[in-house]
Amino acid sequence: MCGIVAYTGDQPAKGILIEGLKRLEYRGYDSSGIFIANGAPYLARAVGKVAELEHQVWNSAPEGVAGIAHTRWATHGKPSVLNAHPHGDCTGKLFLVHNGIIENYLLLKKRLLEAGHQFKSETDTEVLTHLVEAHYAGDLQAAVQKALLQVQGTFGIAVMHISQPHTVVVARRGSPIILGIGEKASLAASDASALAQHTDQVVFLEDNEMASLTPGKFSITTLDNRSVSRGTTNLDWNIESMDCGSFPHYMLKEIFEQPESVENALRGRVNHSEAVAKLGGLESVQERLLNARHLIIVSCGTSYYAGLYGRYVFETLTDLTVETELASEFRYRKLNLRQGTVVLAISQSGETADTLAALREAKRKGALVLGLVNVVGSTIARETHAGIYSHAGIEVGVASTKSFTSQLTILTLMALLIGRSRDLSYEEGHEIIRALELVPDQIREILKQAGKIRDLAEKYCHSDHFFFVGRKFQYPIALEGALKLKEIAYIHSEGYAAGEMKHGPIALIDPKFPTLALALEDGSYERVVSNMQEIRAREGKIIAITTEGNTKLGNLVDDVVYIPRTHEAVAPLLTVVPLQLFAYYCGVLLGRDVDKPRNLAKSVTVE
Ligand code: F6R
Repeated sequence: MCGIVAYTGDQPAKGILIEGLKRLEYRGYDSSGIFIANGAPYLARAVGKVAELEHQVWNSAPEGVAGIAHTRWATHGKPSVLNAHPHGDCTGKLFLVHNGIIENYLLLKKRLLEAGHQFKSETDTEVLTHLVEAHYAGDLQAAVQKALLQVQGTFGIAVMHISQPHTVVVARRGSPIILGIGEKASLAASDASALAQHTDQVVFLEDNEMASLTPGKFSITTLDNRSVSRGTTNLDWNIESMDCGSFPHYMLKEIFEQPESVENALRGRVNHSEAVAKLGGLESVQERLLNARHLIIVSCGTSYYAGLYGRYVFETLTDLTVETELASEFRYRKLNLRQGTVVLAISQSGETADTLAALREAKRKGALVLGLVNVVGSTIARETHAGIYSHAGIEVGVASTKSFTSQLTILTLMALLIGRSRDLSYEEGHEIIRALELVPDQIREILKQAGKIRDLAEKYCHSDHFFFVGRKFQYPIALEGALKLKEIAYIHSEGYAAGEMKHGPIALIDPKFPTLALALEDGSYERVVSNMQEIRAREGKIIAITTEGNTKLGNLVDDVVYIPRTHEAVAPLLTVVPLQLFAYYCGVLLGRDVDKPRNLAKSVTVE
């Protein structure tokens, strides 16, 4: 979704800001803009790719050393140059970029219009700009502070005024702002990836805080004007992981990184001699966790499917009662949390608004709230009582791939930790560990079949519809496979528990409606096969993912992909990989923008 970068230092700002915007492109946007405050003040905005803006900037921008820039994902008003940020005030001296939504913007706009302000766009952001202008009397920070006290809604903002050309004022409520502090420069961004090239010293702004940045310096206050003392945190970036390398797309690179990302999720987290997991991030709450009776997992999208997997793995390895809930539903339920309830929020970005609201609601109700998050220092990571990082590395492709398999790995480790404190035997624990440790090499084996999966994509990518079916541990993977195909290839696809087909969806089956069936030789095999026979009897085409060495499928299927034999609870880490590749190749063959699918954003910070 929208992205912010700001810079004040001793280097020309334009290159740094454009580079920062490119780092944010993966979040999804429809237009972009830049303001450079010193030298001759300069504003440029463009619809479409950042490359459009860059072209304008290189031709015309001055060499000023401070500025703010933005990628916009339209909420109020269509994507257009006039609606793109930064927005200027009536004097043409004050400029502002904004992520989030100003809920009372209509009321504020009415008052500002009455006071004589003139608007050029349809956005809520321009209202905020004029509101700051209305309070401006020579002190930008004071004006921003007064304006924000009148605002209802969410914001991450960066503001500049040409009379203080080396100062950037930033603030946040519900939309992240991270400061990057170098020796002679200060930066701010809505996403740490835009800072990585410049500094590893960052400061996370909390909700209802603002900061004033000058080159190499920062000061923080709350919106009600209490000063805040906070040091910088060292973030260990891996800049290489932010480039595509020899891969044509981030998505393919990230699919191929899974052997290493699963290794990283496991690293240092297994105690072989006790057949148990060691999760340092949970140590501070270990006693409450090990005594818990009830676990509720909340998350969205792909992370929700990881949560559904979590339900099966926790039920298999522990005696907890487990529910998995869509965060967007959970947050509005009438909750009556029993004593001993633990709520686990799963999120790659750590910024998903619905998941954040769900965890805040659970915290308010007294639950122990844990996080399973990929982005270090993100809001969800900071607001939970304790948690575990998935350490998948930066995921740039909008569709989650490697973070999903890391989430599954860690959910299994959490279940192992709790299970071993209850009735899970040493042998059973050991079997899970052995299976997890084989996963990286087994994924490497599956990735060798990428060419074959591309051929399958070529054969099926012109289908208008697809079913994905599986049972038990493979049911969440069927849902995830269908989501990947929808979002990457724009092919209508539905995931179903295989046993549900006969209760309605099978009516759609005909020779042009193929099904991808997850049919591993596990406890559900016979039942899945009988569901596949029902599909076959209606002349439906079937691609099966099955266990290496299974020769029994014969004419029941049109095509087969084999995956190595493993423990039933660990198999989803393998079966999802061919589904990711299948969606990727279908998307590429159909000419889709696989790294930035239309209408989607990497980090969904609005409700
Ligand atoms: C799909 C995808 C989304 C996210 C969802 C939650 O490929 O990436 O469905 O999984 O928006 O995002 P996080 O995990 O960042 O909370």
